[in-house]
Amino acid sequence: MAYICYMQVNIAKKAAAEQAATYIRPGMTVGLGTGSTAYYAIMRIGEMVREGLQIKAVATSRESEDLAGAQGITIIPFSEVEKIDLDIDGADEADMQLRLIKGGGGALLREKIVAAASEQMIVIAEEAKLVQQLGKFPLPVEIIPFAYELTLRRLQQLHAAPALRKKGDQYFVTDNGNLIADCHYEHIADPETLHAQLNDIPGVVENGLFIGMAHLLIIGKEDGTFREIRR
Ligand code: 5RP
Repeated sequence: MAYICYMQVNIAKKAAAEQAATYIRPGMTVGLGTGSTAYYAIMRIGEMVREGLQIKAVATSRESEDLAGAQGITIIPFSEVEKIDLDIDGADEADMQLRLIKGGGGALLREKIVAAASEQMIVIAEEAKLVQQLGKFPLPVEIIPFAYELTLRRLQQLHAAPALRKKGDQYFVTDNGNLIADCHYEHIADPETLHAQLNDIPGVVENGLFIGMAHLLIIGKEDGTFREIRR
């Protein structure tokens, strides 16, 4: 997903993203998420850096790395990362227990690695992403290209109704050279069990359920206000 210029400002996403940026402190190493909401966070962090804030950052996708670099944010290689203090990322769905579906932008694997290495994860989203039950948004599952037909069959056995994601008339390929199977559940009654079942399939690299990772969810509203929900 390339960051084209967001011509029309999404006030809700921007409000959530800018509130998240207030949690950044000098000297922190910050994880930069991926997506149209994370875009506003990166833009705000860029402003703060140009105003003198000293931080380091790691990015969850090439797009976010490029955007951050263009904004003057120092990106460090993972070999130099001792710890990530704060990760700020978007979500496709979130419930009140701060369980998430992520990966709509195809960056779920790197996003999960960064989230898991972070002391705090702040999730930023607009109101429509807050749901009673996860699953309406198709759950992205990253699978390796080798024998992907077999992996899709195993996903079918888990009633996932998987569809390989496409970009134009080609299969979408992640930053890691893998494919994404979007799994159509509609309702995910037991995210914890499904998470384990999916990752148990050889060929599945990671799935887009993020459980027990987010500490704070910031929901931006169309009037420019926000609501914070803590785990
Ligand atoms: C990318 C993601 C994004 O965080 C998620 O898709 C939300 O994106 P947006 O902020 O554009 O709605 O998981 O892999």
